[in-house]
Amino acid sequence: MIGKCLTGAGSRHRFSSTFLADQCQAWMKGGRSAQLRVHSSTLAESSLHAGTPITTEPSTSESTTALVDASENKGVATLTDEQLRRNAELLEMLQGKLVLAPLTKGGNLPFRRLCADFGAEVTMSEMSFARHLLRGDPTEKARLKRAANEACFGFQIATNNIGEGVRAGALAAEAGASWMDLNCGCPIYEATKRGLGSALLRNPRKLARLVAGIAEGIDLPLTVKVRTGTSASKINVQQVVSLLQDAGAAAVIVHGRTAEQRYKKPADWSLLADVARLNEVPVIGNGDILTYYEAQQRRSSGCLAHMVGRGALIKPWIFQEVKEGRELNPDATERVGIYRQLVSHMKEHFGDDAKGRRKAFYFLPWHFDFLCRYRYLPEEVYRELSEERPLIGQRMETAASELGEELDSLPVLERLLRCQSTDAHAEIAAALWDSSSDAEARGVLEQLANEKVADWESNGEEREERVAEG
Ligand SMILES: Cc1cc2nc3c(=O)[nH]c(=O)nc-3n(C[C@H](O)[C@H](O)[C@H](O)COP(=O)(O)O)c2cc1C
Repeated sequence: MIGKCLTGAGSRHRFSSTFLADQCQAWMKGGRSAQLRVHSSTLAESSLHAGTPITTEPSTSESTTALVDASENKGVATLTDEQLRRNAELLEMLQGKLVLAPLTKGGNLPFRRLCADFGAEVTMSEMSFARHLLRGDPTEKARLKRAANEACFGFQIATNNIGEGVRAGALAAEAGASWMDLNCGCPIYEATKRGLGSALLRNPRKLARLVAGIAEGIDLPLTVKVRTGTSASKINVQQVVSLLQDAGAAAVIVHGRTAEQRYKKPADWSLLADVARLNEVPVIGNGDILTYYEAQQRRSSGCLAHMVGRGALIKPWIFQEVKEGRELNPDATERVGIYRQLVSHMKEHFGDDAKGRRKAFYFLPWHFDFLCRYRYLPEEVYRELSEERPLIGQRMETAASELGEELDSLPVLERLLRCQSTDAHAEIAAALWDSSSDAEARGVLEQLANEKVADWESNGEEREERVAEG
């Protein structure tokens, strides 16, 4: 039970960094009433400022301007008691958790449901373009939908407009999201050419004004997902995060790479630790977690929570591994069962008919691009290697010589599930969907493997490493 810790209902608080941090600490320590301390540098201007009431429904660019003027938006947010209470409640939910990253295409509802089956307690939607969402685009609207077992669900938007953000926030609240996140990390040209995603990192003060305007105007907590900068020569994450804390972000998610780096270099966790240490707004650290022992190593970063993206796509059971502190090592037969669970969630979500199959097959074969990368990585063999370089960035052969494996002695089903060929992925998906039981699927897959795996393996070797990017 969370106690009320704020001053008179309805008052608005000019945001200051320690303001939320103190509040959250108090809430996290026992959820009891706390005396709010206001940061000395902002005391004069803020304290318990009852600002001009702010309209929460700016629906045009004119009203967006009105919103900015009304709050004298200088990138410093004025949040209500209720907004601060919700922020604190969210932080309590996030603390110490492994959060499922927003993953375009991968983070479809059936996949998130599968992660939640394996213990993911905090999940995020795929990125939704706020403008298209507000126009009623069905694909974007579908991203608002949350599975019944998603305990804490963040809805991510891309926008550079306060009015759009506020209206998207209203839709997210109506749909039952736990919070909203603003994407400031997406490096793809489609987003950056419109001034969205990582393009927002180019002008941190403008970004702070955007965040303050949205944070003030919505009923949900707002987080912001950033990268360390746009390029190695423009690393500005410290400045960005310190501005975002005054802009009313409940937390900042930091993917420890620049937009330009994509996945080429390991995430910079020492920079993430500095960001967490030097800022009071809680930081969720993100980058390169694949095993429970790598997740454990990241605990020393001082981040409130950690986020996993590709690691969950490769092994959706990573949430259970991290909770239990052990590698689960499901064999090929067990993995067929897990993949069939995903199929079953897809059938429920998209429909168990020809139309549903067509929709699901936009996603299902694609998932095997990641699922095929699963390898057993026991700590006693791989921990040292992981300290040299994150395991997710290391090239893994089909048979792991470190474990004494040889290709010819691997069970044929195991070889098939590790196969990188896209043709194999399409046929695996079809076998899983069309079989009426796990045993039948296994039989069909084994037959496929016996007939085609050697050919697929040689095709797979020529396959370019394809890593989707968000
Ligand atoms: C397939 C894919 C889709 C992604 N889509 C998004 C997205 O929609 N929004 C976002 O903020 N990041 C997106 N990302 C980035 C991830 O959320 C995450 O920040 C990144 O993968 C680093 O974490 P990791 O090393 O654990 O994978 C995506 C990444 C991948 C691999």
